[in-house]
Parts: sequence; C-alpha cells; structure tokens
Amino acid sequence: MKIILTLIAAALFLLPSLASADAAGLSDPVKAWDNHWHMFLTIVTSLWAFVTLLVVYMSLKYRRKKGQGDGAYIHGNILLEIIWTAVPLIIIIFLGVQSWAVYREQTKVPKDAYEVNVEGFMWGWNVTYPEGIKTINEIRVPVGKPVKINLTSKDVLHAFYIPAFRIQEEAIPGRTTYVWFNPTQPGEFPAYCTEFCGSGHSLMLAKVIVMQKADFDAWEGKQKEGIALPPLEKGKKLVADLGCLGCHNITGEKTSAPTFKGIYRRDTVLADGRTVKADDAYIANHIKDPKTTTVNGYPKTMPPYNLSDEESRAVVEYLKTL
Ligand code: CUA
Repeated sequence: MKIILTLIAAALFLLPSLASADAAGLSDPVKAWDNHWHMFLTIVTSLWAFVTLLVVYMSLKYRRKKGQGDGAYIHGNILLEIIWTAVPLIIIIFLGVQSWAVYREQTKVPKDAYEVNVEGFMWGWNVTYPEGIKTINEIRVPVGKPVKINLTSKDVLHAFYIPAFRIQEEAIPGRTTYVWFNPTQPGEFPAYCTEFCGSGHSLMLAKVIVMQKADFDAWEGKQKEGIALPPLEKGKKLVADLGCLGCHNITGEKTSAPTFKGIYRRDTVLADGRTVKADDAYIANHIKDPKTTTVNGYPKTMPPYNLSDEESRAVVEYLKTL
C-alpha cells in the first residue's frame, strides 16, 4: 500500500513538469505536435511499466506457497477505490486538455500567412496562387513564412496530408477547409491523398517545394509573365510546364502517346471505334476528360487537366502550328 501511494504521489508530482514540455514552439506546429506525441508516449509508457511491474511483483510475493490455505476474503477498500478512479481520471482530463490546446493553436493561422488554394480532383491536386498562377501537383512556397492552404475538392472526398509538416485535412466538395504550416528550411516534401477516392487514389501525389525567397520571387515573376503571354506562346509554355511532352512528342515518332505533330484536325480513331476529327472541341474536351476519348491503340494513362477555356484555346493555338 505504501509503495502504491508513493508511486501515485510521484506520478502526480511529475504531471506539471510534463505539461510545460509542450508549451514551447506553437509558432512551429511540427514541434508542438512532436512534443505532444512524446508527452503521450511518456505518460502511457510509464503507466504501462508501473502496472506491469506491480503485477509481476504481486504475483511473486503473494503467490500461494506449499501448505497454505485460502487467503483472507477482502470486501472492498474505499480509499483504494477512490485512488484508482481519481488518478486515471486526472491523467485523462490532463491529456484531453493538452490535446485540445495544441489543436486550438493549430487552427489559428498567423496573420501574415501566404495563402494558396488547393483543389483535389480524381486524381491530382490543382494549385492556385494569389497572383492567378496555377500549378498541378506542385505547391511552391517561400521559406520562413507561414503558409495557409485553403482546401476543397472538385468531385469526391479526398484528404490532403503532408507528413513533414504534421498536417492532414479533408478535401470536401462544396466546402473549404484549411491547414497551415511553417516551412523553416528549403527542400521538397511529399504530400499524399489519404482518403480512398477511386482507382487512381495512389496516384494523387504532390510535392511541397520550399524555396529560398529570391528563387521563389524569380519563379513567381516568370509565371506571371506566362499569364500575360499571347495565346500561341502561352499554349507552348503550358504544354511544356504541364509535362505533356513527357508522353507526347512533336517530332512524329511513335511513343506511348499520340504525337502532337500534325494533330490538329487529324482523323483519329478512338478506343471505342468512333472516328473523329481532332478539332478545337475534341482537344479541349480530351484535356479535361481524357478517359472517354482515348485514341485507339494507346493506354488510358493520361490524367485530366483542369485548364480554363482560355488556356485550352491557347494549347490548341500552339498545336495548330505543329
Ligand atoms: Cu484522392 Cu485518395
């Protein structure tokens, strides 16, 4: 009994010191969550060790020895019952309050945060920046400034997860949710979809590219120039930036995707047997929804691209010239 009381007193004495462990670093949610996790781990492991040691100790000390009869019949002990109700209750309330405190801090976005809109779709992420710049599956941000991501979905439920920044949030059609993080060093950090959203779920990979301020400004400047370009130039740039040339080529060679050379108004046989002319409407529609209009003899591997009408017209303008 004395041992138990001493251990309980020691545990209660330890609690306040553990509580201050996560007070540090709420400007850095990564640190706050890590501290929180370590605190949970410490408390839970200590409890487990305490109970296990007691079980081993008691079963050795009070085991039935040779020639012994039945033990005494003990009918309750009010003090003991109060202790083993109160102590776990205090610990659970403490952990609950701490979790709520970290969560509340995590939902408070710093005022000077850089805001980026991210929209999940089957299967990828559309990223729109304050200046109207757009990227797909790539979020570029400057180092040392908090970043707020406004999150939504175009079609079904997705969930956006960046392990390096310890953030995860649902992307819900018709609703905007948000997360924020504080990139403290340059680098590339993977982001995932963590909600099963169809056969392309595992393809929903993105990356957060944290850049030095000067590099970011240069990139931003270049992208802004792209927005102001005349249609033909803009189309050429889009085709290069979106990675179209990773599969399609402009030389006429036969590869895993139809060549862009001479594509405009070419007679095209589709996988479903229809023959169409690759005109403005077909190309615009194919960029948005490639699965239904795949060309015969080619795999259905092209992902959909969310271009504005103006952007797909620009792409067509460029394809006309090939
Ligand atoms: Cu989107 Cu899984």
